[in-house]
Amino acid sequence: MTDLAGKRIVVGVCGGIAAYKAVEVCRRLVDAGAHVVPVMTKGAEHFIGRTTLSALCSEPVQMSLWDEESPIPHTKLGQGADLVLVAPATARLLGAYANGLSTDLLTNVLIATRAPVVVCPAMHTEMWEHPAVQHNISTLRSRGVHIVDPEDGRLAGGDSGKGRLASPEAIVAAVRAELGPKDLAGTHVVVTAGGTREPIDAVRVIANRSSGKQGYAVAAEAARRGACVTLVSTVDLPAPHGARVVAVETAAQMQDALERLWDSTDVLVMAAAVADFRPVACADGKIKKDGGVPNVVLEPTPDILCALGAKKRPGQTVVGFAAETSDLVANAQSKLARKNLDMIVANDVSQPGVGFQHDTNAVTFLRPGQALESVALTDKRAIARELIDRVVSARS
Ligand code: CTP
Repeated sequence: MTDLAGKRIVVGVCGGIAAYKAVEVCRRLVDAGAHVVPVMTKGAEHFIGRTTLSALCSEPVQMSLWDEESPIPHTKLGQGADLVLVAPATARLLGAYANGLSTDLLTNVLIATRAPVVVCPAMHTEMWEHPAVQHNISTLRSRGVHIVDPEDGRLAGGDSGKGRLASPEAIVAAVRAELGPKDLAGTHVVVTAGGTREPIDAVRVIANRSSGKQGYAVAAEAARRGACVTLVSTVDLPAPHGARVVAVETAAQMQDALERLWDSTDVLVMAAAVADFRPVACADGKIKKDGGVPNVVLEPTPDILCALGAKKRPGQTVVGFAAETSDLVANAQSKLARKNLDMIVANDVSQPGVGFQHDTNAVTFLRPGQALESVALTDKRAIARELIDRVVSARS
């Protein structure tokens, strides 16, 4: 497959034991037709020879800002790239990049480029889990950097745990995904995320366990695929790169925001967990306990998705979620029909690792007149890709 023909990819290699795997990644990129420009850090030279990468890639390795033929190699490399890949990326590289520090040729290239960037960290588990490293990862992710998470497995020195560089296949797949089609260009995708909070009094709310992570992953994926994205959210996570966030708290506020966006909405993905009941009235101030157990009278909230599904226009695509603890398919099927949806994403939230608060999910996609399609437990970002693939196919 030479699908990367004509693509100029700068591959940065840092000093880590996984540097040897960069050789295989470069080989695969060259085989796929890419023009691969290798950049090594000083540390990388402790692990692989320049000659190896120079021989495999499309150009000789570059390492320094100062001793190459070009007086400004970083801007030339950064501006000319269709994509910059760093594999492996060390904790030092992540820290420098997240903080805009140009300490060597590779960090200069990363700061000078406007091309998509894929970063593949590899390090010991303790380093990967350090709050500073995780903070840098989330900063980079919120800026639109595609992070390919390390895997669990054997590490240098006989240790084992999370931190092993992702496989060459996974890294090349991430490159392909970044360079892939912008198949939602020109589309306004509205995504809701998080659980609504319905006030009882000035300090108390009725809430649910939704973390918003799945909705944020869907918003990030839609933006990456070229959509104009509005994320109507109840949670305070870093905004996905390219998405505009509208902050709301209650079901009524979410409904109001979605009604205002409705005319310009091409795709609605309702990942939020909307409360089904709310207090009829919110008490003034804080209810004091010396007044006895309060009688909190509830009323149903509007079913936002049902109301919007009912007035769906041709060309609008409406996707709901179904959080179930039993009869997954039957319950989801009935919501699909009742809410006039183009697709429903059903998850059994009673299963370990599924749905609320987890980084993982396992779902079944239901579409009118189509066979069920299930995706086994995986990262919420992978679920988001599967979801957006189906949205694109439903609209084509
Ligand atoms: N939903 C909504 N407004 C509500 C309740 C739910 O828009 N008041 C949306 C959710 O965002 C989700 C879909 O409807 O996309 C299904 O939500 P879910 O909680 O699974 O089902 P409900 O319709 O609330 O039914 P039940 O709670 O009885 O399962």
